[in-house]
Amino acid sequence: MFQVSPEKPEDGLKIEELLDQLFGPGRHRRAAYCLRGDGQALAELCFVMRGPGFLCASIRYWPVLIDGGHAALLLGPLAVGQAWRNRGFGKLLISHSLARAKTLGHLRVLVIGEKDYYQPFGFSTNLAAGLVLPEATNSGCFQACALTPGALDGLSGLVSPG
Ligand SMILES: CC(C)(COP(=O)(O)OP(=O)(O)OC[C@H]1O[C@@H](n2cnc3c(N)ncnc32)[C@H](O)[C@@H]1OP(=O)(O)O)[C@@H](O)C(=O)NCCC(=O)NCCS
Repeated sequence: MFQVSPEKPEDGLKIEELLDQLFGPGRHRRAAYCLRGDGQALAELCFVMRGPGFLCASIRYWPVLIDGGHAALLLGPLAVGQAWRNRGFGKLLISHSLARAKTLGHLRVLVIGEKDYYQPFGFSTNLAAGLVLPEATNSGCFQACALTPGALDGLSGLVSPG
């Protein structure tokens, strides 16, 4: 009945509505939005959870650079509609998309989000310790994950839109 599937162009408006509902009209001022710059989400890593005839959740990723030269993915936004919470949809979207990212050869992923939620997927604040966000406001929730062992070793510096 419910399934993860690639985001389609016609999903765009519904996803915008969902993001407005969940993050509010001020969402474009959040630190993660600054890191997305004017670029596009990575289409090959944008997935939705669909029910019969409707969309209930979305995950997107954006390209960023660490210290100007090391490519990384920025996970988010992840949004699950209020009516569809606590069914595992958020976690399913994360595991599905991270597996795809790894298959595609991506090395590292960053996220600004709840530690308890992302930790089981390999994210940790320690791995992000040397990385600096353009805005310090959410830095306590800033985490990183290595998709291949050692992919974050020795990396430090400013994270910028990729
Ligand atoms: C956070 C969010 C994505 C979770 O989606 P979901 O599909 O309801 O979550 P899941 O069903 O996969 O996981 C549920 C588990 O995560 C926990 N959880 C949910 N939101 C959480 C949060 N913000 N922080 C920590 N844990 C959280 C639940 O307590 C539950 O725990 P349990 O498995 O031990 O019972 C969803 O609540 C949401 O869209 N929130 C608003 C937008 C947001 O905050 N997005 C994330 C920012 S990057």
